[in-house]
Amino acid sequence: MATYGKFVFLSLALVGALILSGCAPVAVKNMEGGEAARLYALNCAACHGAAGDGGIGVPLALQDFQSSVTDDYLFRTIRLGRPGRVMPNFSNLRDEEVQSIVRFIRGWAINPPNIVDKPVQGDPLHGKALFGAYCAECHGAGGEGGAGTGVTFSRPRDQPIMAPGLNNIGYLAAASDQVIKATLMHGRDGTPMRSFRRFRVSEQDIDDIVSYVRSFELQAARRQALPPRDARPALVFQSPHDFAKTVHKLKQAMVARNFLVIREGTLESGLVNRSRENQRQWVIYFGNLEFIDKPLRTDPRFGLFLPGRVTVVEQDGVVRVMAANPLVINALFNNDGLAAVIEELYQTYMNVLREAAT
Ligand code: HEC
Ligand code: HEC
Repeated sequence: MATYGKFVFLSLALVGALILSGCAPVAVKNMEGGEAARLYALNCAACHGAAGDGGIGVPLALQDFQSSVTDDYLFRTIRLGRPGRVMPNFSNLRDEEVQSIVRFIRGWAINPPNIVDKPVQGDPLHGKALFGAYCAECHGAGGEGGAGTGVTFSRPRDQPIMAPGLNNIGYLAAASDQVIKATLMHGRDGTPMRSFRRFRVSEQDIDDIVSYVRSFELQAARRQALPPRDARPALVFQSPHDFAKTVHKLKQAMVARNFLVIREGTLESGLVNRSRENQRQWVIYFGNLEFIDKPLRTDPRFGLFLPGRVTVVEQDGVVRVMAANPLVINALFNNDGLAAVIEELYQTYMNVLREAAT
């Protein structure tokens, strides 16, 4: 069990830490800004850019963004995140810490917003027709958002910034009617999001659209995240064959599916002195262009799991094949766009492991 534990630890602990920290260890260069700058650099900069210019996340330093949102919106967005849309929830931070991040982001604002919150009265049915005509091409017919997020290469080349999800439970809980309205009135200069006052859209039309966006709340509530159907951290099969034959069968199963065996070696390779490496803990890395390209285009952080890797372990005469469970890893990514890719990866691991162990 010690070996098994080590495997799970190596696969998940490292990966979990990297993802939750936004994927890149952030060097805190500028301590003058004090605690707020440090908190932003640590928690947000990897995705939104050190200067708020965007990355996997949307830009936060844009003036139109700054003048369309309230401090309360920023606070709630940080607290709640955007389930399924990459933006994590920072329920681990204290209120004072979230507040100081909000103040730090506000440091980019030239004109602070002037938004007085009161509900908008509109006709959601008319709003729905307008949404189909003016918004759906970017935000999706049901407000689900673009395929991909932010300004990274997960977006198509003709889209400088991906449209956020609007039917998102985190967005709807953070944005008041007036925040949504202000976004439509101002637009976001420097992004594909236009000001709808420039079109022949009246203020009443905008109110109708706001009411329609608000009505997404009903679906959003129903669309709660389900726990993964297979929640084991590692997929493990016991092999009836000896160690060498299991390794051989595993490689055969990969090649039969058009995968390339990219490299192989002991689990401890590079971690302990060569002569002390356990030769009965063997990792095989595999992949092919499509297998690697598709998930990377959807979410560049997926690079942490590529190429695919499967481990063969012999302990006390028992040979096991194992892989980290992609369904569990998916929860760390918080990206619904990866669902199909992750499902495929899960099936691939299950098939390859099962075949080696029969
Ligand atoms: C050409 C593409 C495009 C169209 C059309 C478009 N949007 Fe956007 N929208 C975007 C992008 C891109 C952003 C993110 C901008 C940013 O980085 O600040 C955005 C942002 C938003 C936001 C802020 C979301 C958030 O998370 O803060 C709202 C609300 C919004 N759009 C609503 C609408 C509505 C309603 C319509 C139709 C009236 C519409 N948009 C039309 C591309 C578009
Ligand atoms: C793992 C990447 C990631 C991290 C880390 C992250 N964000 Fe985000 N954030 C996103 C993405 C992606 C979106 C847009 C969601 C969408 O496209 O639907 C977003 C959206 C937002 C928005 C809404 C923007 C708008 O246009 O209204 C705010 C505000 C925000 N993030 C602030 C923060 C802050 C502050 C932190 C740090 C405490 C942070 N984020 C950390 C990825 C991230």
